[in-house]
Amino acid sequence: MYDRSVTTPLGVDRYRHVVVLTGAGVSRASGLPTYRGEGGLWTQGDTVRNSDGATMAADPEAVLRFFLPWRRQIQAVAPNPAHTALAAAEARRGPGTSFTVITQNIDRLHQRAGNQDVIEIHGSLFRSRCTACDLPAFDDDRADVELLPRCERCQALLRPDVTLFGEMPPARADHDAKRALRTCDLFVAIGTSGLVWPAAGFVRGAAYAGARCVYVNLDPLDDATDFRESFLGKAEELVPALFG
Ligand code: APR
Repeated sequence: MYDRSVTTPLGVDRYRHVVVLTGAGVSRASGLPTYRGEGGLWTQGDTVRNSDGATMAADPEAVLRFFLPWRRQIQAVAPNPAHTALAAAEARRGPGTSFTVITQNIDRLHQRAGNQDVIEIHGSLFRSRCTACDLPAFDDDRADVELLPRCERCQALLRPDVTLFGEMPPARADHDAKRALRTCDLFVAIGTSGLVWPAAGFVRGAAYAGARCVYVNLDPLDDATDFRESFLGKAEELVPALFG
C-alpha cells in the first residue's frame, strides 16, 4: 500500500525500540549521489571496479584514488532535514527506550546531525585501517591522493574502513544490527533500494519480531512483502513529517 498523500506522523515516541535503516537516498538532499538510478555513482566509469574487494587486493591505489577524494566532497556538504529529524527523534528518547539508526551510508552525516546510536553496516569512509596488519581502525579524514597514507606500524597502505563489493560487513556492526532488530517495535527503511544484503533482509527480522514496518523512498520497492505501509517521496520532506 503506498500512501503518498496522507503523511501523518508515525507516532515514533510511543514505540519503545525504534530501528531506522537508511540508504543513499537519505543523503541525496545533502548533495551526495545515490549508487543506482539516474546519476547514480555506479553508473559512472570504473566506480564499481574501484569499489571491489578484488581490486583492493590487486590495485589498492586505484581504490584509494577513488575513495579518498570523497572525504573532501562529503566534508563540504551538510546533513539535511531528514538527518536532523532523525537526530531530534533520538534526542526525545526516554529511559528504557532506544532509537537505533542502521546506516548503509559511509558519509557519517547521521552522526554529524547528532544521532548517537548509529550502526555503520558498511563501515565509514572517515575511518582507516591497515591493509596488512591488525592496526585498529582509527578516525581519519585525510583526502590527499598524492601522498597515500601508510600504516605507522608496518608502513603498508592504509584503506578506508568501508565494506567493498565481495567483502563481509563488519562483524560488530552485523551483530549489533541483528540484536537491535530482535527487539524493535517500529522499523523504518528510508532511501534504500533494498538490493544489498544483509541490510535488504533486516525488515524480515523486524517483521518477525512483530515490528510495524514502514518503507520511505522515492521509488517503490520491487518486493515490499514485509512492509505494512510505504510512503513514496523525498526523505527530506517525508522524514520530518513522519518523525515529528
Ligand atoms: N528521498 C528518498 N529516497 C530517495 C531520494 C530521496 N531524495 N533520492 C533517491 N532515493 C532512493 C532511490 O529511489 C533508491 O531506491 O534512494 C535509493 C538509493 O538506492 P541505492 O542507490 O541503491 O543506494 P542504497 O540502497 O543505499 O545501496 C545500498 O549498495 O552499492 C552498495 O554499499 C553500497 O551502501 C550501498 C548499498
